Amino acid sequence: MSARWHTYADPLSAAQACAQHIVGILEETLAGQDHATLAVSGGTTPKLLFDELVKHPLAWSQVHVFFVDERFVPPTDPESNYKLANERLIIPAKIPARNVHRIPTEHTPDQSASAYTHDIRQHFNLTNGALPHFDVIHQGLGPDAHTASLFPGEPLINDREGIAAAVYKNETSQWRITLLPGVLLAAKHTVVLATGADKQEAVHQVFEGDYDPLRYPAQIVTHHGRRVTWFLDRAAAPA
Ligand code: 6PG
Repeated sequence: MSARWHTYADPLSAAQACAQHIVGILEETLAGQDHATLAVSGGTTPKLLFDELVKHPLAWSQVHVFFVDERFVPPTDPESNYKLANERLIIPAKIPARNVHRIPTEHTPDQSASAYTHDIRQHFNLTNGALPHFDVIHQGLGPDAHTASLFPGEPLINDREGIAAAVYKNETSQWRITLLPGVLLAAKHTVVLATGADKQEAVHQVFEGDYDPLRYPAQIVTHHGRRVTWFLDRAAAPA
């Protein structure tokens, strides 16, 4: 397992360190190419991360923002990952609209996944079957060790060819659109930000548990991803 983890005193310190790491990668990337690609997750943990990211004077106009996953709700819905990123990252950092690759949720779930896949294929100029290599993918972790919208038992956890798909989250009776494992594994850099005592057991299982990605989906990238760095607070870190 190549993943490294760093533990910080509290959620803010972990978010600050994670933001610094992401900005460092993006700056390095932009020193050599005219734009960088960043895929972000949603939920609640990213709020502090986004607030810290926008404090950095990065050439944000050269960053293309994608989404690791999205709840199948309107972009104005409080549940929307786009809404969170738009309010806490895209608008404050003045990222141009042309750089924002929102997962559309105006169609059916499958049509939305296909539209997002098409957007990614176009942006990365992919030939059929190729996967995108995001410069940075930011993942979160659920208390059940899910990441993206790959929940325990989801058959797509075994998929290594697809780019994005619609999945149904039974617990909340909600459709989600998610990047698939092959794309998560193809990232040039991955950061995972997980804080809070409710994540401790999941972190423990991801790092110490038997390798069983159907049960612990966040193990996929942690065990097989390239340059994977976890940022934890003390509450979420293994005891
Ligand atoms: C989502 C996320 C998901 C998230 C975890 C943790 O849409 O919910 O992308 O994978 O990272 O569920 O969520 P919290 O940060 O709210 O704990």
